[in-house]
Amino acid sequence: MTSNEIRRTFLEYFRQHGHRVVASAPLVPGDDPTLLFTNAGMNQFKDVFLGREKREYTRATTSQKVMRVSGKHNDLDNVGPSHRHHTFFEMLGNFSFGDYFKAEAIEFAWRMLTEVWQMPAEKLVVSVFKGENGIPRDTEAYDIWRKFVPADRIMELGSEDNFWQMGDTGPCGRCSEIYYVRGGSGADPEIEIWNNVFMEFERSADGTLTPLPAPSIDTGMGLERITAVLQGKESNYDTDLFMPLLTRVGELAGVRYGDNEQTDVSMRVVADHARAMTFLIGDGVIPSNEWRGYVLRKIMRRAMRHGKHLGFTEPFLHEMVTVLAREMGDAYPDLRTNQEMIVKTITAEENRFDAVLKDGLPRLEAEIDKARESGAKVLGGEAAFRLYDTFGVPYDFIEDTAATRGVSVDREA
Ligand code: ALA
Repeated sequence: MTSNEIRRTFLEYFRQHGHRVVASAPLVPGDDPTLLFTNAGMNQFKDVFLGREKREYTRATTSQKVMRVSGKHNDLDNVGPSHRHHTFFEMLGNFSFGDYFKAEAIEFAWRMLTEVWQMPAEKLVVSVFKGENGIPRDTEAYDIWRKFVPADRIMELGSEDNFWQMGDTGPCGRCSEIYYVRGGSGADPEIEIWNNVFMEFERSADGTLTPLPAPSIDTGMGLERITAVLQGKESNYDTDLFMPLLTRVGELAGVRYGDNEQTDVSMRVVADHARAMTFLIGDGVIPSNEWRGYVLRKIMRRAMRHGKHLGFTEPFLHEMVTVLAREMGDAYPDLRTNQEMIVKTITAEENRFDAVLKDGLPRLEAEIDKARESGAKVLGGEAAFRLYDTFGVPYDFIEDTAATRGVSVDREA
């Protein structure tokens, strides 16, 4: 099954069960000042959960564009080495707004996985909330799961794993996760694939929990992970969501994915970040020195730095947009409508930073090497200042690059 088919069959299953298929909200949340970027499928329904807004439907399903690069849910530093983390990803979800609750949600999830996608039931393990911090054990979820799985495949975990909240405030509740056991000796022998949140409370700034007007359901399943599992791949990057990008980077750079761990890490960063920048710019974010634009700029500069490690001497990132428009344009038609604008924005940013990279990056890396050799692992203030003042290397880029090699910068000096 291709990733496009996986996305489609998920939405179709829930549509057949009375859910409205709702389009992904943009990555830039409409009017939620608590959020930098959309970080979960439920964001666009936040006020519906809280009872502040009514929709004409009580069940919905989406494939939501999501970024996890800041705040409570931040995966930025894992990207590259990790085979299952991303800055940008797609989250499949089904939602109930005071309609069905745990019994139906668990049954839907189970049937989706084992009947529609025919995943072997014996490879699935689930978790429920064990009870912690004054919130009781989720006995109800445990009992429902027992209809589908034996007791030895139900784990009971604490708040860290089985209590989900969008941020410091907002709707939240106990949750139940579904894991797929790959076995073997790969990087992730057991992988979390789906989170079913039983929304019951609103958390206020002072930490108190108030019951929601009605118990609700919010689920999230990363398309990249489920695609890896269904396509029998150990790594999300080996799926058809990433291979076309990795292949294109390889063609342009003259390297092959899988040949060398160091270039593989750089290729994964480029592929991941190319998706993030394409979708962010498509949703109206422009690289700048402030807030959302700054995060985008940081991601772009990281990708450019890894491009240099792959041997690129000319701007190349904009080439990835063509691949994404081709592969994902059916699911996200805006990608094709906005393609030219996205290419122009990326090319302009690449040109702007290229001179800094050419002169500054080799010098910066030499300083980092020196700092590492000295044992102190601190890049001195004088060297950092010279890189900035003479070669135009932005301070945060110095700090970010140094940090990836375990070196800190003496900011005070
Ligand atoms: N909102 C839940 C999550 O993102 C489903 O994990």
